[in-house]
Amino acid sequence: MKPPVFLHSWVPDAILEDLRSRFEVDHVDVFETGILPPDEFARHAEGKHGIMVLAAPVGAELMKASAGTLKVVANVAVGVDNIDVSAATEAGVQVTNTPGVLTDAVADFSIAMLLAVGRRMIESDRYTRAGKFQGPSFPLFWGATVVGETLGIIGLGRIGQAVARRARGFGLELVYHNRNRVDAAVEAELGATWLPLDELLAAARYVLLLTPLTDETRHLIDADRLARMRRDAFLINVSRGPVVHEAALLDALQRGVIAGAALDNVVLTPHIASGTVETRHAMVRVAAENLTACLTGAPVPNPVNKV
Ligand code: GLV
Repeated sequence: MKPPVFLHSWVPDAILEDLRSRFEVDHVDVFETGILPPDEFARHAEGKHGIMVLAAPVGAELMKASAGTLKVVANVAVGVDNIDVSAATEAGVQVTNTPGVLTDAVADFSIAMLLAVGRRMIESDRYTRAGKFQGPSFPLFWGATVVGETLGIIGLGRIGQAVARRARGFGLELVYHNRNRVDAAVEAELGATWLPLDELLAAARYVLLLTPLTDETRHLIDADRLARMRRDAFLINVSRGPVVHEAALLDALQRGVIAGAALDNVVLTPHIASGTVETRHAMVRVAAENLTACLTGAPVPNPVNKV
């Protein structure tokens, strides 16, 4: 009998076909249904040996209820904040993620966000579409300089380092903050200087958040930290939303604590940093490889926890 698995993700046809050849597949495309309510999710998950999820939460209760049967939760993301990893470890469930394949897409997007907010792309697009452009006027959407400015990266992991390489091409000075400093050789290669968090916030014109969402990083950027930033600074959050205290950010923007007073000067995007066709396919492929490896006893490419 083929091991039963539950896929609550978008899955390209070729990958679905491959998984169907190995497993008894119960597939609910999250893009068609939205994230299933917990009780429905639990009904689908019951008795399954493997689960693949995109964004759906997998909590302690489900881990406990599935202990002994469930072997793997393969996340279609590099961030695993939707999964209770310690409950998984306790229940002997392997959690996997999809690092690597999205690094370049997210790094490109981080630079796109920096340029879009600094050069006021969204505001000026809206202005032009509204038919307001009557020829050059003065000063029209003057934005922030990039070359020679300081970029502060909070979270210099794989993606942060890929951004740092790109940032050098733009002539940005680089400072970063991590709980643990990266190797001196990597710092030297990137030309990146480690700073304590508050010093980074005081120094950087562009502050880029690329940290995972954990208990420690939830609301890392709150009213106090926003007040430490330069008044001409831009905050670029490519990590999870809750890393920033949203109400405090709104207040800081409205009061001009950072980069101008207008909310127009904010670029909002719907979680698309890793959203290229190739990257999204690769993420599901990697999740499927993790799922398959766990259920066939092969070495697991991207384990998050030790079971
Ligand atoms: C995307 O948000 C990811 O964590 O991979």
